[in-house]
Amino acid sequence: MRRFIVSALGLCAASAWAQSSTVDSYVSTESPIAQAGVLANIGANGSKSSGALPGVVIASPSTTNPDYLYTWVRDSSLVFKELIDQYTAGGSSSLRTLIDEFVTAEANIQQVTNPSGTVSTGGLGEPKFMINETAFTGAWGRPQRDGPALRSTAIITYANWLIANGNTTYVTNTLWPIIKLDLDYVANNWNATTFDLWEEIDSSSFFTTAVQHRALRQGSALATAIGQTSVVSGYNTQAQNVLCFLQSYWNPSPGFMTANTGGGRSGIDANTVLTSIHTFDVNAGCDATTFQPCSDKALSNLKTYVDSFRTIYTVNSGIAANQAVATGRYPEDVYQGGNPWYLTTFAVAEQLYDALIVWKNQGSLTVTSTSLGFFQQFDTSLTIGTYASSTSTYSTLTTAIKSFADGFVAMGAKYTPSGGGLAEQYSRSDGTPVSAVDLTWSYASALTVFAARAGVTPASWGANGLTVSSSCLTNNGPTVSVEFNVDVTTVLGENIYLTGSVGALSNWDTSTAILMSSANYPVWSTTVNLPANTAIQYKYIQINNGAVTWESDPNNAFTTGASGAQTLNDTWR
Ligand code: NOJ
Ligand code: NOJ
Repeated sequence: MRRFIVSALGLCAASAWAQSSTVDSYVSTESPIAQAGVLANIGANGSKSSGALPGVVIASPSTTNPDYLYTWVRDSSLVFKELIDQYTAGGSSSLRTLIDEFVTAEANIQQVTNPSGTVSTGGLGEPKFMINETAFTGAWGRPQRDGPALRSTAIITYANWLIANGNTTYVTNTLWPIIKLDLDYVANNWNATTFDLWEEIDSSSFFTTAVQHRALRQGSALATAIGQTSVVSGYNTQAQNVLCFLQSYWNPSPGFMTANTGGGRSGIDANTVLTSIHTFDVNAGCDATTFQPCSDKALSNLKTYVDSFRTIYTVNSGIAANQAVATGRYPEDVYQGGNPWYLTTFAVAEQLYDALIVWKNQGSLTVTSTSLGFFQQFDTSLTIGTYASSTSTYSTLTTAIKSFADGFVAMGAKYTPSGGGLAEQYSRSDGTPVSAVDLTWSYASALTVFAARAGVTPASWGANGLTVSSSCLTNNGPTVSVEFNVDVTTVLGENIYLTGSVGALSNWDTSTAILMSSANYPVWSTTVNLPANTAIQYKYIQINNGAVTWESDPNNAFTTGASGAQTLNDTWR
């Protein structure tokens, strides 16, 4: 029987079939190991977390090079989001005890005065604490403003389930005060700079902005459900502002989300893939505004991200350009050797499995000019259009994408040591585990990718139907007059235009970009009024007879001042 199926499907499908069965067996052996790996790292009874108070998640039991025996708000919240998803989908009641302990631990941690401040002066942005719930006072990249957003999302998910199961009183009296502290912090601070999720760059960060947006939406819905109406309009207003700002990270050429507004890197980063999976909403279709996994922007971004690792890691050598590879945090990474990470490689697969779920639900998939490059990896002759599930194009693409996704899990599987332990990284040269052993987040990432592969989706969070106006970043508030000058040699017929991330810079739309003046050739100039105190990205483009040539990456970036005038003197790149 098996031989018959293989020969009937042909060689290529046979290798996809073999890979899929490899992944099937990895999923069945690794699932219990990953689940046990998570539980071992949660106090007070976890076997590898001695000294951690009840509900406290250690990042890893590693105490030297690196020392990860601390509790990070980000890691803990992402891990408990997965346990809450399990519990609310009918998981074991022992999880409920842990979840309640997590809530208590985080409520305590919120109140701990730390180097970022007190609970009311910024302390909620502190990224990590001692495992006995006291402050970590050493130097660190702080604040990290994704923590309160991720924590409130985890607890709100639990709260929604409790309400649906008749325990609104507990939500109102116990959970809401904890959630509200975090959401007020998000609403008040989303526009301030933050260290990114990798704790390295102090600027604005796509992942942070996106999870803040999600938290505010969920918070406003929960507040409405339990009658806490005084916060609703404030959270909604800020959510809309955050969603608008989220659009500004887009880098239209070659089509990816620039992870951080600062940092001086390419901007290509797993930050964005993690955003896509952790803000997935199965009811939001392939919406690009919220960067859903199957949106054209998220797929284009995924290709740019994956491709950035093809030539830099030895473990990827010899792998065909449309096959899965090992991926890490970002191509310029040097931390602990700058290796691929299990959780980032699994995230690629998870985004693709999420996309497959939505295409199946909607019975079609759409290829746009933005996502064409991603899809052409699987069919070079593909053209833009919508392909119904009854078409052979749909079957060809979805079969190939499932196999591509499995390839990323297989990559993690290949470099999982016997015994199944998941460290933080695996070596770029030979795939052996590197850095922190038994990383809780690595185990959680295995659990979430396995769930997505099995078609399991987390609860919806209200992403459906959200829109922003194309001019949303040109608010009616104070503006600054900014003079742009770029030194660029052109030939007759070529003109230089300016486009960028805000409405006043045409929101990256090349057809309405601003024509610059060549009065001081070779310097081209224009002056634009831009919103004050705003992080802005822009590029100069050259247009010749309708043909657009972009400046090379990364986007140019700057932040406008509070008032007055600014001048930018650039040279074409
Ligand atoms: C420790 C952080 O956890 C890690 O993300 C970072 O890369 C290194 N410090 C270097 O800054
Ligand atoms: C380093 C990672 O960059 C960061 O995201 C994480 O929170 C810590 N390690 C702890 O796992």
